[in-house]
Amino acid sequence: LASIQVDVSSVEPGMSLTVKWRGRPVFIRNRTEQEIEEARSVPLAELKDPIARNQNLAPDAPADDLNRSAGEGKENWLVMLGVCTHLGCVPIGQSGDFGGWFCPCHGSHYDTAGRIRKGPAPENLLVPTYSFVSDTVIQIG
Ligand code: FES
Repeated sequence: LASIQVDVSSVEPGMSLTVKWRGRPVFIRNRTEQEIEEARSVPLAELKDPIARNQNLAPDAPADDLNRSAGEGKENWLVMLGVCTHLGCVPIGQSGDFGGWFCPCHGSHYDTAGRIRKGPAPENLLVPTYSFVSDTVIQIG
């Protein structure tokens, strides 16, 4: 299955949805203002992985919060593979030291933009190719 469409109309701020795409979980989160603020306040120099890892952008795009999100006007949306970049476990949402995701397998902490901040994982959670096909429907792939 190359691509899927997901209706996110019922996903309020502070809520997440996990869908399966190509056999892997994809996290879709409607972030709160606070989560966005937190991610924006982090200087890029503090990031363990300074690359956005967003397949919709250039391969060297920096990992600022906008580049991790769905972009201008849709900064609240975060879409990423729910696969830890260490050894592939599924991280747990809204936990860990940075309020984002925590991978219990070996203790990797991701922030509210899905960026690796602490632990053995080398890269930010991957943002797959996706787009909004309407205000409330996301196509992944
Ligand atoms: Fe996530 Fe090792 S697989 S920390």
